Amino acid sequence: MSKIFDQPFKKIKPLTFYEILRLRIDVFVVEQNCPYPELDGFDVDSGTRHIWLADEESPVSYLRVLRKSKGVDKIGRVATSLHNRNKGMAKSLIEHVINTTSGELVLDAQAYLENWYEEMGFITNGKAFEEGCGDDTNSGILHVPMVYKREID
Ligand SMILES: CC(C)(COP(=O)(O)OP(=O)(O)OC[C@H]1O[C@@H](n2cnc3c(N)ncnc32)[C@H](O)[C@@H]1OP(=O)(O)O)[C@@H](O)C(=O)NCCC(=O)NCCS
Repeated sequence: MSKIFDQPFKKIKPLTFYEILRLRIDVFVVEQNCPYPELDGFDVDSGTRHIWLADEESPVSYLRVLRKSKGVDKIGRVATSLHNRNKGMAKSLIEHVINTTSGELVLDAQAYLENWYEEMGFITNGKAFEEGCGDDTNSGILHVPMVYKREID
């Protein structure tokens, strides 16, 4: 597996960040047919970590970690480009986050991936909810809140 990049916004080259946004929009807006405000402002927060794997050219698997409050981190925007799926990339990025955080680690999983996150040690801790896709003509995507169950030594 190639090197994992883990950087705040201000350390990322403009072209690389452009490619990260292209990957996110290709997956979440175009592939999932969901018009929503992808650029929500959190990317530039100093506490936000952008984490990705790249081929020679550009990021191919990505997620971000938001600092929600002291000791609480939230994983989001987990995406792998279509041609690079099922090679263990997203899983390795999530394991990297698990290994580099120590407090509460949460995420809102797309419901179809609940089992996948469970296999990595997350448990569902709330009711399923729909996150909207733009206007009323589009139905939302079903999500479930999950939290990582850390081993207690
Ligand atoms: C979900 C996603 C990030 C996985 O990326 P990836 O790099 O292919 O993930 P990995 O290779 O680490 O893991 C693939 C595993 O996920 C499972 N998986 C992938 N898509 C799945 C699906 N639709 N339903 C159930 N499991 C699925 C695979 O079976 C595989 O399981 P295995 O490890 O037991 O073989 C990628 O499919 C993607 O970008 N999907 C669209 C965006 C999305 O839904 N993001 C998640 C937001 S919560």
